[in-house]
Amino acid sequence: MRFHVMTLFPEMVEQGIGTSITGKAIGQGTIEVHAVNIRDYTEDRHKKVDDYPYGGGAGMLMQAQPVYDCFQAVKQGIVEQRQNGARDRKENEIEGQTGSGLRVVYMTPQGRTFTQQMAEEFSREEDLVILCGHYEGIDERVLEEIVTDYVSIGDFVLTGGELPAMVMIDAVSRLVPGVLHNELSAEVESFHKHLLEFPQYSRPENWHGKEVPKVLLSGNHKMIEEWRLEQSVERTKERRPDLYRKYERLIKCVDWLWKDKLLHMDMIEVIRRGQAELFYSGKDGVLLRDKKSQVCFLTAVSEEAGRKILTEYMPKQIKPEFFVVHQEYLCPLLEEVYGMQSGCACYQAVYTRNVTLRADKSVEIRPLLDDRMEEFLNSCESLGERAYLEERFKSGTVCGAFIKGEIAGFIGIHAQGSMGLLFVKEAFRRRGIASALETEMINRMLALGWLPYAQISIENSEPLALQKKLGLRISDKRLYWYQNK
Ligand code: ADE
Repeated sequence: MRFHVMTLFPEMVEQGIGTSITGKAIGQGTIEVHAVNIRDYTEDRHKKVDDYPYGGGAGMLMQAQPVYDCFQAVKQGIVEQRQNGARDRKENEIEGQTGSGLRVVYMTPQGRTFTQQMAEEFSREEDLVILCGHYEGIDERVLEEIVTDYVSIGDFVLTGGELPAMVMIDAVSRLVPGVLHNELSAEVESFHKHLLEFPQYSRPENWHGKEVPKVLLSGNHKMIEEWRLEQSVERTKERRPDLYRKYERLIKCVDWLWKDKLLHMDMIEVIRRGQAELFYSGKDGVLLRDKKSQVCFLTAVSEEAGRKILTEYMPKQIKPEFFVVHQEYLCPLLEEVYGMQSGCACYQAVYTRNVTLRADKSVEIRPLLDDRMEEFLNSCESLGERAYLEERFKSGTVCGAFIKGEIAGFIGIHAQGSMGLLFVKEAFRRRGIASALETEMINRMLALGWLPYAQISIENSEPLALQKKLGLRISDKRLYWYQNK
């Protein structure tokens, strides 16, 4: 991911972001931070970039011209970089909002308060342009032309936007795959993230007469986990009752969905993995969106309840690209409201046992590194759009099965959390490779505290047989996947 910071103090940004973990990520090429000096673009002979505000008032304003020309240069650089990097992809045109499709964030105390959710959203961008103001602000006319997002880091006023920009870059960077670690575990979060961290202790065992809680020295991991959760819950209740209420709502929702866990495992896992935006949850149904994949999910006790939930609780600005409904009577609603047609009916296969499966030692299975990406993309073309497959590969969740050093097949995890992307090359079929791949994935998911599940089209009997063989339970009810083409 590339950050482009338009500022009067580029060295401040370069120094601040160039150290520690973000500095290392820059060194590895996982992120790029380009600090661009707005002053280089002024047409003023004396390099002036500010002037008095019309109508009077304290201080100076940054003028429109240097900011605008700086942005044009940044945009041009991005277009060229994308053209170079994506010769064979069709995405070298940047279109959309502001005529550029780029997110241009102006750091200002007048903006929306920056949150983890915004960090997640920004981390999905390939390029993020950040504009830092100084003095008393920037001429409104240029803001109107180039800015897509006004963002504040809190209700206080700083002397400029550079520190807020660095705060935002830090929070966004740690979500970019590869910045913290590039393994399956990088995908792991849980809905416990709605809770505050539990207290932590390091050596010595006794400090200022205070002992480390005994349970942490016990070596009993289950007890330690329970103690930590308890501490997190207590702390959140006491210090952040607002967060605790959200957590409680999620727990209640999971309890309700759990009553038919085979049908609802997809929704349960989105919540448990801390990825859910919950729009509605009640005794008559649940409506949520997965923040990672943007897939929407609806379950309802009747067509009438589904209609009420969808029309009253779905935010109007959301135009879903993917939608999963859990009852057939909800299908016509999707056509009526979003014009979505002919969903794919699936069964849900869920691994409900908490024991790992015995691995097939004759097949070596391991997560794939970048050098295998092209091979994965070419082999699995039929499994999805290239950009999606690439994103999944970069998330670090794709594994390969190796036979005598050659890749025989692949498996991965879909963005919303189900096992998938299972593919065995023609020459290696009927040798138990698919079974070995899925066994490995189930074991990896269990190790992360996830409940392994897969969604299988009702027309596809072969994968269903594999799921049964591996001990997954198949839902007797169907769910329906829709895509807005
Ligand atoms: N610029 C000055 N103060 C700011 C704040 N609180 N957030 C974002 N940008 C700013």
